[in-house]
Amino acid sequence: MTSFPAWYYDESKMAGVDFEDAAQVEVYDRNQTSSTPEKEQALVTRLGITAEHSVIDLGAGTGNFAIQAAFTGACVHAVDISQTMLTYAQRKAQKVGTTNIKFYHAGFLSYEHQDKQADFVVTKNALHILPDFWKMTAFLRIAAMLKLKGVFYLRDAIYSFPPTDYEASINQWIRQVATEGEGWTARDFEMHVREEHSTYGWIIEGMLTRAGFEIVEANYNAPTYAEYLCIKSR
Ligand SMILES: C[S@@+](CC[C@H](N)C(=O)[O-])C[C@H]1O[C@@H](n2cnc3c(N)ncnc32)[C@H](O)[C@@H]1O
Repeated sequence: MTSFPAWYYDESKMAGVDFEDAAQVEVYDRNQTSSTPEKEQALVTRLGITAEHSVIDLGAGTGNFAIQAAFTGACVHAVDISQTMLTYAQRKAQKVGTTNIKFYHAGFLSYEHQDKQADFVVTKNALHILPDFWKMTAFLRIAAMLKLKGVFYLRDAIYSFPPTDYEASINQWIRQVATEGEGWTARDFEMHVREEHSTYGWIIEGMLTRAGFEIVEANYNAPTYAEYLCIKSR
């Protein structure tokens, strides 16, 4: 195991929601609207994942994407810093009979990919957990896990509103979440903004490029969400 210097970020101390708490994990899985099996299956198809590929899912959560990727026959590596999440995902994978997912208790900054370089790295709704300096470190580590021309897909709460509008934009996001009422509350999102590390798309884009990725698609689906499809270009 790599030993990290004393100044290295301790990613086991998660900001925001406590995903080591089994009750919170249950709630999270129940409230899922962005990571349903149907949506994850569509993403697997869109990315073109097949039995020939290897896939790393960082911050795999309750396992919906990893399971759908595994259904193609691909070799899947599901990584999460929360043992509770991993156990939950493992049980789900067992229930549906997938045997081609390896689970790792590790994170963006500590996972050591021992296999050959992957064809795909995917991370959804998890990177915001790291402060920006460490997001850059995570991108460099992701690039090292991927083969040349490999695909990196990132989706997260990422801001595209003009910085001068930050107050109105954040207030509108929280109001909208509270009224749409899909299990999340205004308090959950207030905590997200206050304690987690979502940042602007132009910062993320600069980091991705500096880490050696070509951004093939950047979709700002809403002022507070974005997705990037990238190729490791060097
Ligand atoms: C909001 S959930 C998203 C889960 C899943 N990717 C999805 O789309 O539903 C965030 C996940 O990231 C995990 N996580 C938090 N910090 C992490 C880190 N430093 N490295 C890897 N995973 C982390 C949490 O345990 C949790 O499972």
